[in-house]
Amino acid sequence: MTSKPPSPSSDELVRVPHAPLTAYYAKEEDRSEFLREIFDKTAIDYDRIEKAMAFGSGSWYRREALVRAGLTKGMTVADVGIGTGLVARQASIIIGDATLITGIDPSAGMMNAGHLPAGISLLNGKAESIPLPDESVDFISMGYALRHISDLSVAFKEFTRVLKPGGRFCILEITKPQTPLGTWILKTYMRTVVPIIAWAIAKEPATRTMWRYYWDTIEACAPPSRVLATLRAAGLVEVKRHVELGIFSEYQGLKPFNASNM
Ligand SMILES: C[S@@+](CC[C@H](N)C(=O)[O-])C[C@H]1O[C@@H](n2cnc3c(N)ncnc32)[C@H](O)[C@@H]1O
Repeated sequence: MTSKPPSPSSDELVRVPHAPLTAYYAKEEDRSEFLREIFDKTAIDYDRIEKAMAFGSGSWYRREALVRAGLTKGMTVADVGIGTGLVARQASIIIGDATLITGIDPSAGMMNAGHLPAGISLLNGKAESIPLPDESVDFISMGYALRHISDLSVAFKEFTRVLKPGGRFCILEITKPQTPLGTWILKTYMRTVVPIIAWAIAKEPATRTMWRYYWDTIEACAPPSRVLATLRAAGLVEVKRHVELGIFSEYQGLKPFNASNM
């Protein structure tokens, strides 16, 4: 008799946030190239679709979440997965000076499509290898990029390295609802309403694929308990998850004052 492989425990650390989605790319090694291409291609549509979806993840919500996580005036910020700058724009309002923000993203297309506040610095890079010195920023934000990272354990250790002692972080992500009914509602919305929005307003045909992929990654993503365990294992403390409307997860915490870089 063959025994079933054990299912992952809730505190098992996350490396790859989801198994390869072979409808889009063949194997894990192809994922980052698929992502860079699709984000580059669909960047022109990103802000309009995001706004039309009115998915709660608008400007107001991003700003509130940053404040909840401890962002205040005058802090230096690394916005990882800056995309077109929807989080960075809100961060600049809170801190009062866009020159204090560095945006990092592997997609030049996304960064070039945004209307970024004057003075912001942009760097091509990934969460797994943040192109900033040790202990150089007060705050790290990352909006809706967690599902796209190839190794969360490595990325969160990068957060610990780059944050100053006492520095805080805010990771925004959409999480699959806990109930089957909630999942059905969100899935139906993503699979029916969002494609109609994309069909009506997108300029780039690949935008429909991009938003289908968006839902598939939410459905396949490692659960919040494992994301929290991975953040703690990276040396971050006071780690917690604030949830809005059952699906908007805000992971918050800080680098301890006595941390040695890991
Ligand atoms: C859905 S967009 C989010 C953009 C923006 N932060 C927001 O709140 O709207 C995800 C972004 O993550 C970027 N991304 C993909 N892989 C990444 C990685 N490994 N590290 C950092 N960013 C990544 C994509 O290029 C894309 O710009």
